[in-house]
Amino acid sequence: MNATANRTNSPEWNCIHTNDSATMFPTNFAWGAATSAYQIEGGWDVDDKGPSIWDTFCHEGGRLVFEGQSGDVTCNSYELWEEDLRCIRQLGLTHYRLSLSWSRLLPEGITQHVNQKGLRYYNKVINDLLASDVLPMVTLYHFDLPQALQDQGGWKSPEIAAIFDSYARFCFETFGDRVKLWITLNEPYVCAKLGHEDGIFAPGVKEPGMAAYLVGHNMLRGHARAWHSYNVLYRAKQGGSVSLAINSDWAEPLDPASPDDTAATERYLAFTLGWFAWPLFVTGDYPEVMRSSIEVRSKELGYQEGSRLPRFSKDEPSLLGTADFFALNYYTSRRVKQGECCPGVLGLKSDQDAEGVVDPSWPVCGVSWLAVVPDGLRKLLKYVKDTFNNPAVYITENGFSQVGPVDMEDVQRCGFYHDIIQEVARALREDGVDVRGYFAWSLLDNFEWADGFSVRFGLFHVDFSRPERPRTAYRSGREYAGIISKYRSQTMVNT
Ligand code: GAL
Repeated sequence: MNATANRTNSPEWNCIHTNDSATMFPTNFAWGAATSAYQIEGGWDVDDKGPSIWDTFCHEGGRLVFEGQSGDVTCNSYELWEEDLRCIRQLGLTHYRLSLSWSRLLPEGITQHVNQKGLRYYNKVINDLLASDVLPMVTLYHFDLPQALQDQGGWKSPEIAAIFDSYARFCFETFGDRVKLWITLNEPYVCAKLGHEDGIFAPGVKEPGMAAYLVGHNMLRGHARAWHSYNVLYRAKQGGSVSLAINSDWAEPLDPASPDDTAATERYLAFTLGWFAWPLFVTGDYPEVMRSSIEVRSKELGYQEGSRLPRFSKDEPSLLGTADFFALNYYTSRRVKQGECCPGVLGLKSDQDAEGVVDPSWPVCGVSWLAVVPDGLRKLLKYVKDTFNNPAVYITENGFSQVGPVDMEDVQRCGFYHDIIQEVARALREDGVDVRGYFAWSLLDNFEWADGFSVRFGLFHVDFSRPERPRTAYRSGREYAGIISKYRSQTMVNT
């Protein structure tokens, strides 16, 4: 039965009504919510912050952002951080995932010029969280490269790996006495594909079949260097963990009896999850099926200059083993069939030769790509366990969006959070996946990239029409608070 069917309309906190009292989470399970700097902070040019590629992308006319919107002000969390903290406390979170704006800390992207005002801001955020008994998970990079570095080639340039490493070291040195959970890069797949293949995210590069592989490669190189820096210079004294947040759909063959659909599903997963997880967890290199598909397609297209998928150099820090946990962003699922894509075309889609379709029985929430498939998370977690050698897993993002007129009594999203947490519990208890935490996307309604403010993912509604940007809990915010308080009190009773 759908979980929402049991719900009443009572507005009080702790409004869950379920019979799942047997479900248990480990004592130290991280109950979190996530945000990112560009999406919530605003203050795009105040207090000596340097511009990022998202500032440029939104400000340049003709770009693809909904109604020409931008993150110039958004939730104004740069000024209203204490309001965010109030929301975090109200939810009873044990963890909060935020990202640092690289160009707020280092306006030109390099450590020669540190912006003290940016430093003060993040020190306050981190200290306030800890004072409220909330542990920060800090992402160093969530899509917002300093424009000054983009001007030197951005993620396409091989030099960026070392520059990212210096930024990472600066952050470990500065905040690592207090931050113990680090994410180097958020969703390199999205940066590569949407930012450099499709051109619909900053920096708006559209070089199909070429730039994305280079960008993904340099992001992996930067990640590996940063992980090794932490390992050698900071791990012993700071005792934290470092990983890379990888996004993936769950994928299943459209026709499970079809060998073509099965092979296409393998490629689908290899070109999303595998692209970034294989190098870290399995071989130190890309999945074999990804390499061979790209080589075959390159030959067909008469491409002469070696593989479009770069090779890792033996002289550089190795990729294998550079994740202390698996950081997984899961939103949706697909049924997969062999691609129907034009063989003569250069592009990721034709290399992958697999097409994901939405099962007609899956509800779609808000945005068209977001088919709601909670049990896909459980299946993906099991796949991660089996494929990547049973890592500790944090679900670093997962959520449900709202589009159109605001619905503060969002019962569907309440049902979604109930269902998804049940799937996490099943993965833990029945499949033995070592899940360490769950972060809802997002704490607040915010600037949803190319969709601007038209798509709302928050547990708290933000009124963007008012200068004070008031935050108000949705019913789903209260629901999530109820879920957290219920399971936390169970673990307390049982320990
Ligand atoms: C993720 C991204 C987030 C957020 C979310 C919802 O890909 O990391 O910043 O936008 O999607 O679409």
